[in-house]
Amino acid sequence: MVKVSPSMLASDFSRLGEEVSRVAEAGADCVHLDVMDGVFVPSITIGPPVIDSIRRFTDIPFDVHLMIENPIQYIDDFAKAGADCLTIHCEAKSDVTDTIDRIHVLGKKAGIALNPETPVQRIVQYLNEVELVLVMTVHPGFGGQSFLGENLTKIAYLREYAEEYGLKYEISVDGGINRETGRMCVKAGATVLVSGNYLFKASDLTREIEDWHVF
Ligand code: DX5
Ligand code: ZN
Repeated sequence: MVKVSPSMLASDFSRLGEEVSRVAEAGADCVHLDVMDGVFVPSITIGPPVIDSIRRFTDIPFDVHLMIENPIQYIDDFAKAGADCLTIHCEAKSDVTDTIDRIHVLGKKAGIALNPETPVQRIVQYLNEVELVLVMTVHPGFGGQSFLGENLTKIAYLREYAEEYGLKYEISVDGGINRETGRMCVKAGATVLVSGNYLFKASDLTREIEDWHVF
């Protein structure tokens, strides 16, 4: 079954806790929380105190996407706030292996993300260390952008690589995901669909998530 992870960036931030409950009740498998520091990407979003305050609204995993320049400095705070999976960017400044190790020491799952312009070869050395790979299908920093189709080949590569080396990482896609692009990603080998604007505009979120589960 394909997993669906709504990106809360597109939700009503004034009622974030209730929005988290709503997506969980609609059948979401996890909650995608976008953390931006104004340095790695131009926008600034939320940090550990906000994550901590919404943690009590659901039991489903919090999948925290760290679009921050120096993730290693904040791993402990995010873990304490209730993150279950922490995804860092390979383009960030922290040492990737040290950061992944710290995430694992804290008993959390680690993910590695790559930007659209970053070749997939750049993360191959980390693939046996992570539980998730996040393929960005838009430039990070903003919701509501159009899907960049050239990233489909990365998904296919990651799927083949996992099969060849017996690795079990999830392949997640993030940016411009709707019914059409989501289906294309699943066909290429994606196992987790992150979606913000499209899912939050859906008239029947439960039905939408049900459909996506069987793409
Ligand atoms: C973009 C974020 C995404 C974003 C996706 O930097 O990482 O998670 O919220 O939003 P949509 O689905 O609207 O492209
Ligand atoms: Zn994201």
